[in-house]
Amino acid sequence: MENLIFAVLGIVTVLALVSLLVPAADQRGVPGTTVLAALGLILGFFVAIVDPQTDLGFFSDILAGLRGLGVSAEAFLYLFLPPLLFTAALGIDVRLLFDEVAAVMLLAVVAVVVCTAAVGAALSAFSDVGLIACLLLGAIVATTDPAAVLGVFRDLGAPRRLSTLVAGESVLNDAAAIALFAVLLGMLGGEEPAVGRAAWILVTGFVGGAALGYGLARLACWLLAGLRNSRVGEITLSICLAYFAFILGDQYAGVSGVVAVVAAGLTFAVYGRLRVSPETWGPLVQTWNQIEFWANSLIFVLAAMFATRAIIDLSWGDAGLVALVVIGALAARAAVLYGLLPVLVLGKATAPVDYRYRAVLLWGGLRGAVTLTLALFIGESPGVPADIQSFVVTLATGFVLFTLFVQAPTLRPLISLLRLNELSPVERAIRNRVIALACATVRDQVARLSDTYGFDPKHADAVEIGDGVALDENPLDELTDKERIQVGLIALADQEKALYLRHFSAGMISRQMIADRIAAADRLADAVKADGQSGYTASTDNAVQSSRYLRIALWLHRVFGWQRPLARALATRFEILTVTRLTVRELARFNRRAIDPLLGGETASALDKLIAARAEALDAALATVRVQYPAYSEALEHRYLARAALRLEEEQYRHHRDEALIGREIFDDLQRRLDRRWALIEEGPTLDLGLRLMEMLKKAPLFAPLDAEKLAQVARCLTPHLALPGEKIIQKDVVGRAMYFIVSGTVAVRLTTGPVKLGAGDFFGEMALVTRERRTADVVAEGYCQLLILDGRDFRRLARAIPDLSATIEKVARERIDANEGPTDSRP
Ligand code: CMP
Repeated sequence: MENLIFAVLGIVTVLALVSLLVPAADQRGVPGTTVLAALGLILGFFVAIVDPQTDLGFFSDILAGLRGLGVSAEAFLYLFLPPLLFTAALGIDVRLLFDEVAAVMLLAVVAVVVCTAAVGAALSAFSDVGLIACLLLGAIVATTDPAAVLGVFRDLGAPRRLSTLVAGESVLNDAAAIALFAVLLGMLGGEEPAVGRAAWILVTGFVGGAALGYGLARLACWLLAGLRNSRVGEITLSICLAYFAFILGDQYAGVSGVVAVVAAGLTFAVYGRLRVSPETWGPLVQTWNQIEFWANSLIFVLAAMFATRAIIDLSWGDAGLVALVVIGALAARAAVLYGLLPVLVLGKATAPVDYRYRAVLLWGGLRGAVTLTLALFIGESPGVPADIQSFVVTLATGFVLFTLFVQAPTLRPLISLLRLNELSPVERAIRNRVIALACATVRDQVARLSDTYGFDPKHADAVEIGDGVALDENPLDELTDKERIQVGLIALADQEKALYLRHFSAGMISRQMIADRIAAADRLADAVKADGQSGYTASTDNAVQSSRYLRIALWLHRVFGWQRPLARALATRFEILTVTRLTVRELARFNRRAIDPLLGGETASALDKLIAARAEALDAALATVRVQYPAYSEALEHRYLARAALRLEEEQYRHHRDEALIGREIFDDLQRRLDRRWALIEEGPTLDLGLRLMEMLKKAPLFAPLDAEKLAQVARCLTPHLALPGEKIIQKDVVGRAMYFIVSGTVAVRLTTGPVKLGAGDFFGEMALVTRERRTADVVAEGYCQLLILDGRDFRRLARAIPDLSATIEKVARERIDANEGPTDSRP
């Protein structure tokens, strides 16, 4: 009992010190982890030098508590790792991560292997603990802690994709390194060191862990639905999810528990956000950050305390080995950043990364809590020989301390050296322009104020406004037209994001939609920063065209005839188009109101043209939807307003409650009713693709004369299909295997003499079946087209069974052939 009290005393003392020191360090721009490590070293020093027998009263009890904190090896992994990993995964924007998935995977997984190999090889040449122990250390030091670099990137306004790249890399490299760590640890315990088997364990552990984490997170999200409005329940469930994923993966499923936690965190970040009640997501993330902060603090302090002994005893030989680890790890990271990344850029898997940012990534590759946790795990594992234990703990901690005490404090000087923190000439010009604009208004207001108070006007003139920037010349004269447009477009992209957020808080767009739109706005801003106007147009064109999800759904529809994914993907797309269109309308107003005075009329009109072109493309895309699915598109617009109305209604009730016009019970009742209506609206209108075979058949005039038996025969041979605007249904010169009946929509047959349009009731693609020659023209869908496909073999079968039908088709084919050959025949 006594021990428990001392342990609690030790922990709260550590946390009390941490809570005072970390905010102070934050204010001075020192990474929190550096302070934590320093604190741990100091505490460890006290623990080491104060004799346990000396009675210093309360202070001795605290030291006894700290001394007794030696947590078991398992406890380190099972208590601390899940919160570290889950919180990191929760903070990642999964949509942006998917944009960079190839780069992130390669950087994370390959970099871990390179680091393990480099550090392992370097160490084994100079030490006598054996290759496996050296490789194990390599894996331990391969995990990076992104906090410092992310903080720097945030301050510098670096492109969002870089932050995603760093955060994603760090979460996945934790997963990869720990999976590798587990395999190497097994080998150290005497398992066969077969490379093929180890690789197989790694891959199955990774894939299995990912599947387990995903499945558990989906289950948790499903359970969340039943907890609506219970914040404590929702947050607790998320905590159980992280620990369940880890323990089930590790102990029961035989897969990587770490990967399972990461996968669960990423999945929860996407789906959990949509399921928890709106007011809970913020507190949920805060709770996780809190837990992570405690875990991080305790790990650092415990590890540093633990390492003090080793550091006091550090020999020159050990110091040399730490230097080797530093060199090996930096060389491995440099190889990845300067060797691998450019290859990815060449292969178009990612956009180029400025060399200065790469230098920050290299030097900012700090190591943190995960490395220490793994090292402590080894230090406390009874199965590992003592010499290897001390080898791993000393070198891993020494390396972490090097990154914290040497790399971290020099990161900001490096940034100044690289001049990353200076405003570019363009930014300087904009800043001066903003000051000038503000000054004009402020000068006016000050004069009026002075007048109101009856002060002498000379005081008003003497007041300094605008930090002494010269206001007479226009700083924008220094900028080229291209630069002005780029600045304007960045402002537009930022404003677009702000507008989406405003629509969201007004209740007009769903949480699902806001996550997607924010990611799109970030992508747009990155594209403009990288490529200016062409980046903007490419990114917005891309948004009007079909998404990756839609393409997959379309493929499933084409190959397997599945309609549900397609209907859902289209519904999402239509909603995105509607939301974007409304926002673009507001952007035009913003351009006139805010950008015109800032950047001048010429730039504003250039931007206006770009916005108008975007609006036109969106209108055209929406018009095609309206033609084919009028009821659905009306329902979408209606939903937009209905959501806003509901949010306003909610506000009214709250207002009445705050004014004490209605009591708690009445308010709760009103809230429940609103919740029910929210749930209905949240579901959204369902999109009926209208691809039911029999209904489509009834609309096709060619089949109208057929009796019931023949119609059934025809029905067996036809497959419904939806073609999207711009889809090339038939390609010229390829072998034809099917013909198409148009139930609704329009297609264009692109003949050399010009396009011929075909509409509802027409058919096409019959010529290749009749003549058994190659396709004579491209056929492209003009809008959404409902088609019935008749396969070539079925065509011949039907021709035998229903000769009238085939005669009609053949007749049309001949007429078309004649029409196409017309000009040739009329030649003399
Ligand atoms: P096929 O040659 O299989 O593929 C291209 C299709 O375009 C062709 O079948 C016809 O269905 C259609 N097509 C070709 N020429 C004409 C035309 N003059 N008028 C209408 N449709 C045509």
